[in-house]
Formats: sequence, structure tokens, C-alpha cells
Amino acid sequence: MCGIVGAVAQRNITPILIEGLKRLEYRGYDSCGIALHANGELQRSRSTARVAELEKQIEQSALSGFTGIAHTRWATHGVPSTKNAHPHFSRERIALVHNGIIENHDELRAELRALGYVFESQTDTEVIAHLVDHLYQGDLFETVQQAVKRLQGAYAIAVFCRDEPHRIVGARQGSPLIVGVGKGENFLASDAMAIAGTTDQIIYLEEGDVADLQLQGYWITDAHGNPVQREVRTVQAHTGAADLGPYRHYMQKEIFEQPRAIADTLEGVDGIMPELFGDGAFAVFKKIDSLLILACGTSYYAGLTAKYWIESIAKIPVQVEVASEYRYRDSVPNPNSLVITISQSGETADTLAALKHARALGMENTLTICNVSTSAMVRECKLAYITRAGVEVGVASTKAFTTQLAALFLLTLALAQSKGRLTDDEESHHLKSMRHLPVAITAVLALEPQIIAWSDDFARYENALFLGRGMHYPIALEGALKLKEISYIHAEAYPAGELKHGPLALVTKEMPVVTVAPKDALLEKLKSNMQEVRARGGELYVFADADTNISSSEGVHVIRLPENYGQLSPILHTVALQLLAYHTALARGTDVDKPRNLAKSVTVE
Ligand code: M6R
Repeated sequence: MCGIVGAVAQRNITPILIEGLKRLEYRGYDSCGIALHANGELQRSRSTARVAELEKQIEQSALSGFTGIAHTRWATHGVPSTKNAHPHFSRERIALVHNGIIENHDELRAELRALGYVFESQTDTEVIAHLVDHLYQGDLFETVQQAVKRLQGAYAIAVFCRDEPHRIVGARQGSPLIVGVGKGENFLASDAMAIAGTTDQIIYLEEGDVADLQLQGYWITDAHGNPVQREVRTVQAHTGAADLGPYRHYMQKEIFEQPRAIADTLEGVDGIMPELFGDGAFAVFKKIDSLLILACGTSYYAGLTAKYWIESIAKIPVQVEVASEYRYRDSVPNPNSLVITISQSGETADTLAALKHARALGMENTLTICNVSTSAMVRECKLAYITRAGVEVGVASTKAFTTQLAALFLLTLALAQSKGRLTDDEESHHLKSMRHLPVAITAVLALEPQIIAWSDDFARYENALFLGRGMHYPIALEGALKLKEISYIHAEAYPAGELKHGPLALVTKEMPVVTVAPKDALLEKLKSNMQEVRARGGELYVFADADTNISSSEGVHVIRLPENYGQLSPILHTVALQLLAYHTALARGTDVDKPRNLAKSVTVE
């Protein structure tokens, strides 16, 4: 999704801005641009191609400057086009980039048109540029403080003015923005990663902050316009995507990194201790009587899986909510509930807003399972467990999901222990299984050739159903999501018992049905559901395990996972479904790492 980099320095900042954009690329974007203060005026270059093309454009035009801003855009208002790409100018005086969505843009546009402003783009962003220009009276910092009072919605902005060559101003509300503090130079970015290597001195701006960056220093005001000091942290942000190595795509690489990612996530866990989730976790776990899990997409499915584990092992009632729904519905708050957010990025706007909403309703016990230790989610929750998946570049989440599951299983055990519901024997049994996970996953990865053989056939379908039961139902949901987002095959998942309540009507020989079928208490019931499919000519693709008594026959394709993995079986089955989605997408020739219309980090509503 959209990314911002900005700099004010005493050297040519073009390479810093371009490098920053490259590091933000993996989040997904459809256009990019850069504006610089050059030769006393505003100059810009924009493109609907990749950042590398923009870089060539800039080299050809020899664009350089000491002050400037740059942006990757993921279209919300207006099609992806050069005109809609940021930075936006107003009267050749103001240059501005924006992440987020301005909800009152129609009203502001009408007002500014009446004042004579001419709009060149369809974006909500251009409204802010003209608003800043309209209010400008010689001091950009003061102007932005006034301008943001008129904005409704979410924004992170970076802006500079032709008449103040050594100054950029940033502001945030609902979208992340950081200040990078340098020596005689300062930076703005939507993510510390964008300026890693340039400075590691980072300030995370808070909601409503406006920051004034000049060569000799920076100044920040809070949401009420009062000057504030914000903590400067030393942040070792990663520098973005690692090399692909022998893999064709990041998604494939990330699927194969899962044994390592899970091992890293569980490293140092010698026993079950609530304090693994932060200081004071035991007291919190002991007093809460229920859990409320908030998340989106794949992370939501991790939450759904955890519900099965937590209710079965820790015996605590769990409610799992799609964050974008929870934040707007009337719910019945329980102050004794532990609110858990799950997020790879830690910056997902809907999940952050849902967390804020829960807190506003009086739920103060908060915990996050997150892959980015410096993210807003981690900063805003009392307790946290950081998964150590490493940078996930592929838009389709893989290792982030399985490490979330590992962390959630650990949480299940810690909750059970705090409630006195975990015996020593159970603890050591579960710990042993968790430690063995990297080996068990490696064995599933070895099934890749069999899955490739399926994929070639699977790629011809336009629709697919996924079935699972119990804790494997969320895994069927995740399998269907993976398949649809990267192969564009329409896929839906159902708890298998629901089949005859409607979806069975869809089953023909053109509808493959992928079934997650480990040996568990529901297997015999699942087999009956599979018979219902076969009786209607549906082709079954079954992921069984060593103990499942299902054999291949006409219309029934079976791949057997090497081990039955009990409670942790969802993690192994996920890996097999990821490989199916990946190889099917490959066979269909789609852009696996950057599927159409999607972004890695969804920082707008
Ligand atoms: O960063 P988050 O985990 O909060 O992201 C939530 C979803 O946008 C994300 O899981 C999305 O569904 C995946 N990219 C799908 O593979």
C-alpha cells in the first residue's frame, strides 16, 4: 500500500528517496513519484511503471535537489495514472504526498473550486495540497497545523513549499509516519525501513502530531497544537527484501523458510511462562474471563484456529471478530476480557482502529501477536509476542501465518497454565511437539513434487471448494484465500457439515473440492461429506495424513502428510495448501508475489 519518504538535507537526496521507494515496493503499489526543490522551483517525476523506471526517468532528466518527497501509490480515489500519482502540486508552490483516505474530500473540493483552484487529478490528496496552499501565509508548519484541522479520515502527509527551501512538514492521523533524525539532515517516512542505513534514530509520531523538519533540527506539536518531545529510539530496521536465492518467487522462498521461521519464533521458549508475553502477563491472564480476538484476512484465520485451541485446552471462551466489522458494530464490552490483535505488519488500519475501539469501550487488557516489533500494534498493546518470521515480501501471507499459529498455541498453553489447567505432563508433551514442528514442516515441504502434479490439473478450473472440520475449518478458509488471491480461481471454504445446506448445489465435475482430512474425531463424518461430493461427480483433492484411512480412487486424489500431528496439525496442513496455491498460480502465469489489486500492508480502511 502507499508509502512515503521525505528528506531535507545538504546533499542531493534523490538516491535516498529512490532507495526508500524501492524498499517500500513490496507493499504493493500502482504508481510512484518524486518531487524536489530544484533551482528555486518545484520539479517532479511520476510514473505508472516500477520504481526502477522512475529512477531512469530521473537520471535522464538529471533531477536533483536537497529537499524533497517521494511516494508509492496504491489507488483508492481515482485510477492508477500519472496524473493521479503523487506528489501533487498546488499552484507550483506546494508539493504534497499522502497515505490514507480523506473522507470529506468532496466538500473540501467544492470549497476550493469556488476559490479558483483547478483540480488535475481524481484523488482526495490533491484537495490537501490546495488546502495547504490556500491557507499558506509564509510559515508551512503553522499552515499544516491549520490545514489538518479541516481533514476528516486518515492521513499521513509530507509536504514542502517552494518558498521555504529547507523545510518539510509531516502530519499523521490514522496512518503511520516516522521522523528520522540525522546530523544536519532530517527525514520523514511511513516506515523506518525506508530510511534504514541513512539513520537509525527514529521517532514514531503519535496520532494528531505535526512535525517540522529543517536542517538544524525538528519540532513536533501534538493533536492540540502543543509543542511536545517524542522519544527518539534507536531502531535497527531491516532493509527490505532479501535475495531470492534459488527460488522463483518470494512466496515460494517464504513457504520454504517456515521451518526456520517457526524455530526462530519459538527460540528461547524453555518452558511455558505467561511472561513470554510481557511483564505482568500472569496477573492479566489470571484475572481475565474471556478473549476477544481482532484481526483481518489471514491473521483473522489464525485467530479462528486459536479459538479451537484455547476453548479446548485453556477452557476460556473466545470471540473472534473481523476487525473492520467489530469497529463499527454495537457490541457488548467485557472489561474482564483480554483483547488480542493479530497482525503480520502491525500497521493494518482496521485492526488498529478495532483495538482503539475496544479500548474506548473500557477493555484495557491488550495483547498483540505481531511480526514487526516496532509497529504501532506493538506500541499500543500492553502485552506482545513477536513472531520471528522475518520480512515477508510476498503479498500472500505464508510464514507470517504459521508463526502466528505457533505463537497462538504458546499463548493457549500459557493461558491454560495461568488458570491451573495445564499439567506438567501436558506441558512437556506440547513443548515436545512444538519443538519438532520444523522437522515436521520440512517433511510436508518434501511433498512439493506431488503437489506440483496436482497443480497442473488444478490450474484449469475456475472455481474450487475447500472443506475442513473443527480446527481445520479455518485452515480450509486460509487455503481458499491463498488460492483465490494469487491464482484468481474463485475459491470458497466451508465447514464440511455445511455442504448439504447449500454449497452442494455447486458441485459438478467442474468443481474440484479440496479436503483437509487428518485423522481426528471428525474424520468419519468428513468421509460422509466426501461421499456426497463424489455422488455428484465432484473431483476430490484430499490432504490426508499417515493415519487417515482414505485411498486414491477414481475422482479421489490423495496426498498423505507424513505425520498425524494432533493439535498442531493445522500448521502442517496449511503448508500443503500454500504449495497447492503457489504451484496452481505458477501454472496459470499470474504475478504470484504481487497479485493484482492487492497490497502487502493495508494501511487504509
Ligand atoms: O498485516 P496483517 O496481518 O494485519 O494483514 C492482514 C491482512 O491484510 C493479510 O493477512 C492478508 O489477508 C494476507 N496478505 C492474505 O494473504
